[in-house]
Amino acid sequence: MKYAIVLAAGKGTRMKSNLNKVMHHVAGKPMIGHLIDQLEQIDVDESYVVVGYQQEHIKDYLKERVNYALQEEQLGTGHAVKMVDQLKGKAGKTILLYGDVPLIQKETMELLYETANDYDMVILTADLEDPDMYGRIVRGKQGEVQKIVEYRDASESEKHIQEINTGIYCFDNELLFKYLEDLTNDNNQGEYYITDLVEMFAQNNHSIKTIRVSDIDEVMGINDRIQLAKASHWLQNHINCHWMSEGVTLIDPNNTYISADAMIAQDVIIYPGVMIRGKSVIGEGTIIYRGSVIQDSTIGNGCRIESSKIIDSTIKNEVNIGPNAHIRAHSVVEDKNRIGNFVELKNTHMGYDSRCAHLSYLGDSVIGQHVNIGCGVVTVNYDGVNKHKTIIGDGAFIGSNVNLIAPITVGKNTVVAAGSTINKDVNDGDLVIERANRVDKEGYGIKYKNKPKIEKGKL
Ligand code: UD1
Ligand code: CA
Repeated sequence: MKYAIVLAAGKGTRMKSNLNKVMHHVAGKPMIGHLIDQLEQIDVDESYVVVGYQQEHIKDYLKERVNYALQEEQLGTGHAVKMVDQLKGKAGKTILLYGDVPLIQKETMELLYETANDYDMVILTADLEDPDMYGRIVRGKQGEVQKIVEYRDASESEKHIQEINTGIYCFDNELLFKYLEDLTNDNNQGEYYITDLVEMFAQNNHSIKTIRVSDIDEVMGINDRIQLAKASHWLQNHINCHWMSEGVTLIDPNNTYISADAMIAQDVIIYPGVMIRGKSVIGEGTIIYRGSVIQDSTIGNGCRIESSKIIDSTIKNEVNIGPNAHIRAHSVVEDKNRIGNFVELKNTHMGYDSRCAHLSYLGDSVIGQHVNIGCGVVTVNYDGVNKHKTIIGDGAFIGSNVNLIAPITVGKNTVVAAGSTINKDVNDGDLVIERANRVDKEGYGIKYKNKPKIEKGKL
């Protein structure tokens, strides 16, 4: 059997944050999310996340994807593993991961499981020029691993060791839980260290194998905001290089933010400052200009999107959007639309080849095909208590500065005259005009302009 344990109970004091460390984002996703995504891609029988500090937050995010164990008091990494009662005494191999080492890739996890078939413990190590505060791997004369010493407990000569503990291990599960019982907290931090198991295994002649990781960035531990930024940078670079090699142009790859879950077709061009978040999909030949944010949305082929925000929505093919449009709440924009500057669409379906080119709000609406929405049109969808629907038929022409008070249906091939405020349905083919009567006052313009000025202080 294959098991996995992820430690995520600690607060993460060095982050100086009210948020649990593993919920901080690396390249747009919480650290723990990256880890669990990788774990789910390999064959593991049971996965456990050890939670404590802000456990509800982590559970809300991961839901039923994993099992949980609770560590009420954070007494150290060894103590945290011991909390996974569910695995006590079970035969199998257990991979142990730290929630704050989130960039580990599934291939490395698989290699650990594989190697653990022949050893009682496998430790992933790395050689660092600057071994910083990581635990050090202490070896004997024959190169055999003797123990791991934490930085805070290390002697001066041990601090010079450059081979460090990445915090990723694979254990024989029965031996793991057997030796956990013997851990003590006799060290600088007064904690039960999982790393002390190494010396116990060595002294009791259980076999230990170390694997040196090839890419040291993959095992970066994130304890503070500087390391967080470094990890984000590494992962973003990894993602961006992947899409460039798949035929996507990034005008400035150092200033382009693409989530690990996005999909981008070839010949897409992405300008600086663009963020593509969540599970977004971008179709072939689409150009996304400066500063656009696209989140959990699908964009079709051949679109142009300029400095706009698109959230939880679907844009079909050859659609022009922006600059500064805002499309959200499950809106759908069919082929060949034009959604212009300062237009907001909320929960709105725009039919084929329609336009809404300037300064408008369309909420909770269904718009037909070949419809023209003039400048400054507002669907008045909210009465202060409830939201109401607006329906506009195919071929309708809605003049500028029209208010459509919902619920309302405007029929096919209708014209609503500019400046009208209407609150009753319009029949197919009609023209409707609803404005105040015009009053002309002869010469009053000149009179108005020549009004005497009131002296200062006399008001
Ligand atoms: C740990 C290792 C160190 C290694 C480094 C790699 C130990 C004792 N030290 O040090 O050898 O080089 O990681 O990044 O293991 N946690 C709990 N409960 C606790 C304490 C910690 O769940 O009581 C979790 C934390 O949330 C964190 C992880 O365990 O995700 C690691 O803890 P942390 O305090 O960051 O360990 P390091 O000092 O970085
Ligand atoms: Ca750490």
